[in-house]
Amino acid sequence: EMSIEALFKPRSVAVVGASGKPGKIGYAIMKNLIEYGYEGKIYAVNVKGGEIEVSGRKFKVYESILDVPDEVDMAVVVVPAKFVSQVVEECGKKGVKVLPIISSGFGELGEEGKKVEEQLVETAHKYGMRILGPNIFGIVYTPAKLNATFGPTDVLPGKLALVSQSGALGIALMGWTILEKVGLSAVVSIGNKSDLDDADMLEYFENDENTGAILIYMEGVKDGRKFMETAKRVSMKKPIIIIKAGRSERGAKAAASHTGSLAGADSIYTAAFKQSGVLRALTIGEAFDWARTLSNLPEPEGENVVIITNGGGIGVMATDAAEEEDLKLYDNLEELKVFANHMPPFGSYKNPVDLTGMADAKAYEGAVRDALANPNMDAVAVLYCQTAVLDPRDLAKIVIEEYEASGRKKPLVVAIVGGIEAKEAIDLLNERGIPAYPEPERAIKSLSALYRWHNWKMKHKKE
Ligand code: ACO
Repeated sequence: EMSIEALFKPRSVAVVGASGKPGKIGYAIMKNLIEYGYEGKIYAVNVKGGEIEVSGRKFKVYESILDVPDEVDMAVVVVPAKFVSQVVEECGKKGVKVLPIISSGFGELGEEGKKVEEQLVETAHKYGMRILGPNIFGIVYTPAKLNATFGPTDVLPGKLALVSQSGALGIALMGWTILEKVGLSAVVSIGNKSDLDDADMLEYFENDENTGAILIYMEGVKDGRKFMETAKRVSMKKPIIIIKAGRSERGAKAAASHTGSLAGADSIYTAAFKQSGVLRALTIGEAFDWARTLSNLPEPEGENVVIITNGGGIGVMATDAAEEEDLKLYDNLEELKVFANHMPPFGSYKNPVDLTGMADAKAYEGAVRDALANPNMDAVAVLYCQTAVLDPRDLAKIVIEEYEASGRKKPLVVAIVGGIEAKEAIDLLNERGIPAYPEPERAIKSLSALYRWHNWKMKHKKE
């Protein structure tokens, strides 16, 4: 069994096809490696030799990887397809461990290309090397400050591992996670999956302490049985969210010509995902909504959910969503009475707990603290409609303080509806790993996704 540790924690990286010319992919990868702060050695390899400068750093350029006077764990290959076979052979001789191959022009072209791919894998395995790709945008692993992609530079560190079969979408999502404050442990572009595939990634993240949940964009799997068996095992430890595109007949045909995926009947995927504990999301928005909650929050210890709000309207909407999602709103009035301390006489401590439009910092602080402290309240949804009484950013600070002080022992989600300050408050919370949304239903549905995974796990533990 060849380890893929070097894909995430390489001690040194060579870029084969490294370039000093801005605008070239071989330049962008060098630049991201340097600017994201990779601390291992970086080597530039290019047949042209000489010297290049990237981000103010000068690099001697080795004409072949065989000339690098040191061990190389990872070689990122950015040369045109026709030169890749030779480069793979040389990397093998050099003792490289993993090869992310960026280059396009292989299996996605058809049978001929697939044969070339198989030969690359054969060569690689002969030397004990693994291949990621080809036809990929690279790999990010934030705990190692490794950004070997030609995507955005400043990926936010966090606990979600993102795996994408699509290149352009994967790069776009990297940028989107920065905007939306989704913290990532890893981004892996798996492209043509000639060697390493989704199942291999699941296997790595299963035991990766820096990853809390895994999100996969997939169009199809080659070895369905291997994938489902792995997914089922990994789901017992960590939640897996999948966007499986190609649901419709015509969509499936588009997938076939995009990544050569034989999509298979969609209902088979739905059933298989369900069996293996995988949460299937239908849209990007839904997938990341769930991922925020699933990658950051602990599992609930029971079914009692408490909703705290300052607005009757969003309280009712959240309650509707909770009912539709089969979440149980806690209804022990004796215990809920504690919230009466934090509201005017015209408030309501019945769940949803309505602190009223008068709710200020003190009211929220008290209510959130009490909910987090009560052992019979298992999960909390904090809702806020922006009013002039309390700046949403101050609400965010209160929630952060109370949640941290409680030791983050139970799930807590937040929804803040309002203007620019509300958006800033949502960002503040998300940056601290507290899932926050601009709509109550999205918070509730994300909490529900956590319960769905948790309940699946509990059921299968017994079997
Ligand atoms: N060893 C080392 N270096 C070599 C070798 C070799 N055997 N052969 C060529 N090179 C060097 C060249 O000298 C060149 O250097 P330069 O940039 O200083 O001129 C460099 O490698 C690149 O070669 P070029 O011929 O200039 O090729 P170019 O940079 O235009 O393209 C690339 C190379 C990016 C690999 C291209 O062939 C390709 O496959 N592009 C698609 C990449 C892609 O989209 N992947 C999927 C991503 S996901 C998505 O869809 C967004």
